[in-house]
Amino acid sequence: MSINWYPGHMHKATREIREIIPTIDVIIEIVDARIPYSSENPVIQELRKDKPCIKLLNKSDLADPAITEQWLHYLEKEAGTKAMAINKHETERVRTLLNLCRKLANKKPDSVDPARALITGIPNVGKSTLINMLAGRTIAKTGNEPAITKAQQTINLPDGIQLVDTPGILWPKVENEKSSYRLAATGAIKETAMPYEDVASFAAEYMMLAYPELLKKRYDLPSLPSTDIELLEKIGRQRGCLMSGNRINFDKVARVFLNELRDITIGRVTLETPEMAEQEKLETRLLMEQLADEKKAKKEERKKKRQ
Ligand code: G4P
Repeated sequence: MSINWYPGHMHKATREIREIIPTIDVIIEIVDARIPYSSENPVIQELRKDKPCIKLLNKSDLADPAITEQWLHYLEKEAGTKAMAINKHETERVRTLLNLCRKLANKKPDSVDPARALITGIPNVGKSTLINMLAGRTIAKTGNEPAITKAQQTINLPDGIQLVDTPGILWPKVENEKSSYRLAATGAIKETAMPYEDVASFAAEYMMLAYPELLKKRYDLPSLPSTDIELLEKIGRQRGCLMSGNRINFDKVARVFLNELRDITIGRVTLETPEMAEQEKLETRLLMEQLADEKKAKKEERKKKRQ
């Protein structure tokens, strides 16, 4: 597995969420608009059952607006799900989320109970920023270290909404290797065992396919080379990422490229489409089934040997 995550933490978070869910009226799941599939958390999918859910595609200021539209449409196909694209620069729009929560919570107009909304998301997806925006003051500390909001918090907002912050740390799904690369490429997961060069190669390959014009413009290239390595070489020479013997320092150019991808110097891009997600979900399911079959076969074999 390419990303360091801790099953122990995941089990704890799952248990705690399972305990809270019966007291919740609506679930707000924040994902990264650049990778809405890879930044999902499998625990929420599993525990949600028929609770109404709002999928927030956060950091939409960094994502490709046309693909964000596709994602909104796709996510709303799921029963009981509303999807909204938001970002930290659009405070008024973010606050409309409260109306949506109230509507989905379906409380009677004369109800004195607040509508309880559980807010969830993998580390760094922008949960603290959003909580602060909704509350209109700094409650949750933001920053680039994951999981700053560690303890469970309940925050009373105006208009009868109670925001319940997820206890524990929720990790993204990492069964799919492509998702690991995308999480690393966007900077969602910083501590990965993956070398920068591999992550940059993965991202460069996708960018060459999906956003060739942005690359040509940014790196002043009349045409694109045929491979991601050649592209990184060209960028490396332009930027003086060299070692002795005039050789390319791939680690350095990878960092330059990934920084420019993350801070949208190259342009607003999304690294996965709903169509890709569908395909990968299918591949992952088949792989899991195959692994389960192999495990079962081995067990049978051991049993036979013992007999
Ligand atoms: P978390 O609680 O989910 O872990 O995430 P947090 O709010 O701390 O946000 C992680 C980083 O993402 C922060 O940047 C934050 O500013 C940034 N961020 C959150 N929402 C958006 C958004 O809509 N658009 C963009 N472009 N960035 C967003 P940081 O540099 O790590 O920290 P800070 O110095 O900004 O606080």
